[in-house]
Amino acid sequence: MKKKILVSRLYPKAGIRLLEKEDFALTLWEKERPMTQTELIEQAKTHHALLCTLTDRIDQHFLKHCRHLEIISQFAVGYDNIDIEKATSFGIPVGFTPDAMSEATADIAFGLMIAVARKMFFLHKTIIKGQWGHFNPTGNLGLELKNKTLGIFGLGRIGVKMAQRCKNAYDMDIIYHNRTRNKAAEKMLNATYVKFDDLLLQSDVLSVHCALTSATKEIFNGPVFKKMKSSAIFINTARGPIHHEKDLAQAILKGDIWGTGLDVTNPEPMQPDNPLLTMENVCILPHVGSGTIEARDQMSVLAAMNIIKFYKNDNVPHIVNPEVLKP
Ligand code: GLV
Repeated sequence: MKKKILVSRLYPKAGIRLLEKEDFALTLWEKERPMTQTELIEQAKTHHALLCTLTDRIDQHFLKHCRHLEIISQFAVGYDNIDIEKATSFGIPVGFTPDAMSEATADIAFGLMIAVARKMFFLHKTIIKGQWGHFNPTGNLGLELKNKTLGIFGLGRIGVKMAQRCKNAYDMDIIYHNRTRNKAAEKMLNATYVKFDDLLLQSDVLSVHCALTSATKEIFNGPVFKKMKSSAIFINTARGPIHHEKDLAQAILKGDIWGTGLDVTNPEPMQPDNPLLTMENVCILPHVGSGTIEARDQMSVLAAMNIIKFYKNDNVPHIVNPEVLKP
């Protein structure tokens, strides 16, 4: 019998073509919107494998109904939408797509940093509103980034790419805080490991690149922003729930920090009346970090290969829970 693969969204063709070449029966969900969880469960019940992404809630409830799945292949580097512990307890391998989007996401972090430092999104809006006015020798002033200190929270694949950009463009000093030290990156970037509090105290730009876990949930909150420099820029391109959004808005209004660049919000989607959207030193994008043609193609290929190799060789090249494949 052909293995039945449920493909939860319209993913780039590059990966789908690879699956089509194999002897699988594919079910493609072709609507723009994600399936509701009820729809997802109903569909997944009759399939052997699932290709999904961060908009699909693969939680205890889902897994209770779909523990028969042979593999879950996630189209994303983050997998906080999946209850990994539960999937592992049912012996379901979970694939993901690391590194494919590191350049793309670092570009968004780097771009947001400059955009916030120079109030770009806000100033763009003044033109649309007919408020260009006159050249103002003391107006619309931003910050320079040359020789400033970049603090990375989570110096992994994407954090390293962001640090490289900042070093090459602005000769920034790199400090970072991680669960475990990244000695290779320290050497490559001349980066210094610091305690979390020192990261807050010393960073001119603090860029978040960690995973969302119970330890990082809303770790950036009011008291934490208060410890940062009043001239600091906070960048989050990782996951929205890593920052407390109301506290972030308050911190900017009170002048605890200078501003923020977000590609992820808490919650998503951000509502159009969110006060952050009207602030001068704030630039927000709708979770497009991995959104380049190259990155999304590569993500779809990695996600497809995780399924293909699993059925061909009992091996998932990019796996979150390798312990389930051990004999
Ligand atoms: C996107 O947010 C990803 O995790 O790949």
